[in-house]
Amino acid sequence: MSTCDIGLIGLAVMGENLVLNMESRGFHVAVFNRTTSVVEAFEASRGKGKNFVFAKTLPDFVAALKRPRKAQIMVKAGAPVDAVIEQLIPLLEPGDIIIDGGNSLWTDTQRREKYLKEKGLHFFGVGVSGGEEGALKGPSIMPGGSKQGWEALAPIYTKIAAVAEGEPCCRHMGPDGAGHYVKMAHNGIEYGDMQLICEAYAILKAALNPSADEFAEIFGEWNKGKLDSFLIDITTKIFSRKDPETGKAIVDLVLDKAGQKGTGKWTVGHAVEMGVPLSVIGSAVEARILSSLKDERVAASAVLPGPTAKPFTGDRAKLIEAVRDALYASKIISYAQGMVQLGAASKLYNWNLNFGDIASIWRGGCIIRARFLNRITDAYRSNPDLKNLILDPFFRDTLLETQANWRSAVTTAIEYGVAVPAFSSALSYFDSYRQANLPANLLQAQRDYFGAHTYERIDKPRGEFFHFDWLNP
Ligand code: 6PG
Repeated sequence: MSTCDIGLIGLAVMGENLVLNMESRGFHVAVFNRTTSVVEAFEASRGKGKNFVFAKTLPDFVAALKRPRKAQIMVKAGAPVDAVIEQLIPLLEPGDIIIDGGNSLWTDTQRREKYLKEKGLHFFGVGVSGGEEGALKGPSIMPGGSKQGWEALAPIYTKIAAVAEGEPCCRHMGPDGAGHYVKMAHNGIEYGDMQLICEAYAILKAALNPSADEFAEIFGEWNKGKLDSFLIDITTKIFSRKDPETGKAIVDLVLDKAGQKGTGKWTVGHAVEMGVPLSVIGSAVEARILSSLKDERVAASAVLPGPTAKPFTGDRAKLIEAVRDALYASKIISYAQGMVQLGAASKLYNWNLNFGDIASIWRGGCIIRARFLNRITDAYRSNPDLKNLILDPFFRDTLLETQANWRSAVTTAIEYGVAVPAFSSALSYFDSYRQANLPANLLQAQRDYFGAHTYERIDKPRGEFFHFDWLNP
């Protein structure tokens, strides 16, 4: 009997939580996993007594789906997605919809969408953010695919998504790879946010050396104001958790070696390819790479001393406020850069992305959810053609108000020999973007000197190119 509204293949934690979410909102869901014992285990545990079809074969799974069939794949990005698609194709009919809910590379999504279109099938690349808890209680959902396919999917996804300010955190992003691209950009911004928080921690640790409990207090306080966000909230909680074995703060026992699965690198790589500065996220990716060189750093620390640490004699509360402002200002720059990247990608692929919509669906459910996304939503809703978020009156005024503190936090970091690549690259972006004149005149002269690459002149119309005979002036 074809009674299921949707089906999901891949019962790892995210998949399991998503189907439980769908079922809890009244949908009849078919589930399938390549390893049958996984389906059986789910049937006997969290799925027990619930409105699921526990399919043991793929044909049974497909047969359980209402037309147009909606089959969501939640398997590891890359070749496994293609493998499942190939198995599904012979079982589906024109008009059916295959959905990939993993963190797939957007170009793979574009390729798959084109391939399946030729077979009369819709393919949706759907970004899902919010981790395990979000999947269960309401994630932020970023779907990309055909308008027609979206009409069939919208009733399900808008119902299982988080809600922010009365709006579901799910909107159709655009065709083919748009959803996965927006999710990738989200992850890049997530990298930036996390690194910025770590730099705030590093400065305060070097200058004031607060205990983990004191850090929990500082971050808890920040979370009550303009920095209010999921990542600041979990950071507060992290600082207050103790290791049952030693009684020490668990954060002080975690090895300082960051991992990464790849979405941050993809984000930065494509930004560079499109000629978009994405320095905050770039710094965040590089900081993770540098952190992973633990053994090299330990060896270097014995032979490369920094400035001699002097006891902090200034106003403790003032430094904490300066660091908070630096974090906020740098965060604004990071989002501004991310939005410019989305604009460039939208133009490149004719996606017609709606930045107000994007900011609005990031307000709830996802990892980067934060109070200030309301402001970003407002900024793009009142001016959809905004060239750069930092030109929006609210964000411009905020940067102008916080810049003195921002500079003072970065200066303190430099004095203490603390690396703050994301704070300082954000500040450098601000200081470059707001300059009518940059030293690129000298750079153009250098290019012309060694390569006759020519230059334009400030006293002649743009578009006229000159070469100077540098060797025989
Ligand atoms: C989310 C997260 C999720 C995942 C990251 C982790 O939005 O729910 O971003 O997608 O946790 O991919 O990425 P790294 O392993 O690269 O830190």
